[in-house]
Amino acid sequence: MNEDVAKILYHESTILSRLDELAHQITEDYSDKEFTVISILNGSFIFMADLLRRIQLPLQVDCWSVSSYHGTKSSGSINFRQHEVADVSNRHVLLLDDILDSGLTLSTIKSKLINEKNAKSVKSCVLLCKNVERKAEVEADYVGFRISNEFVVGYGLDYNEQYRNLSYIGVLKEKVYKKQLLS
Ligand code: XMP
Repeated sequence: MNEDVAKILYHESTILSRLDELAHQITEDYSDKEFTVISILNGSFIFMADLLRRIQLPLQVDCWSVSSYHGTKSSGSINFRQHEVADVSNRHVLLLDDILDSGLTLSTIKSKLINEKNAKSVKSCVLLCKNVERKAEVEADYVGFRISNEFVVGYGLDYNEQYRNLSYIGVLKEKVYKKQLLS
């Protein structure tokens, strides 16, 4: 696995220090609110576990399983893999996602929560924010790290369901996905 990574962007210790800061900020901002955290799976499962254990407030958690990526490209549409979701009507919602890229995932889920699920407020927290032009008008309220337009894996992020269990976040070597495109 490690040999497929061109460079490491963030080691686990750096990620965890940044999560301490994010959790502190979230704890301050939500101290007087009843809120539900909705985590977008699969990519945010490690981020969720590490961040939530640092938030010093009572909270509810739900996970929504969605997919949009094929290999290294967004398919342009979001598929919800489950139908039953927690009741968040009249509750504050904090959305967690691994990475903000085109913005389609966050904007689709945000509008579903506001328009269909009647959430009281929706904010979002992403571990990574790619510095690219968005296809949907959305930005995250809390950002772990801002990165350039490279395909990253590890710490929950995958390429074709591989590499999620790397402890760090790294840039995938181009030859890994070019090889698959050619075969
Ligand atoms: P959008 O484009 O909807 O993207 O903002 C959000 C989802 O796309 C996936 N994604 C990536 N996954 N490395 C990954 O492993 C990447 O560099 C990358 N860029 C986008 C991810 O699932 C995210 O939730």
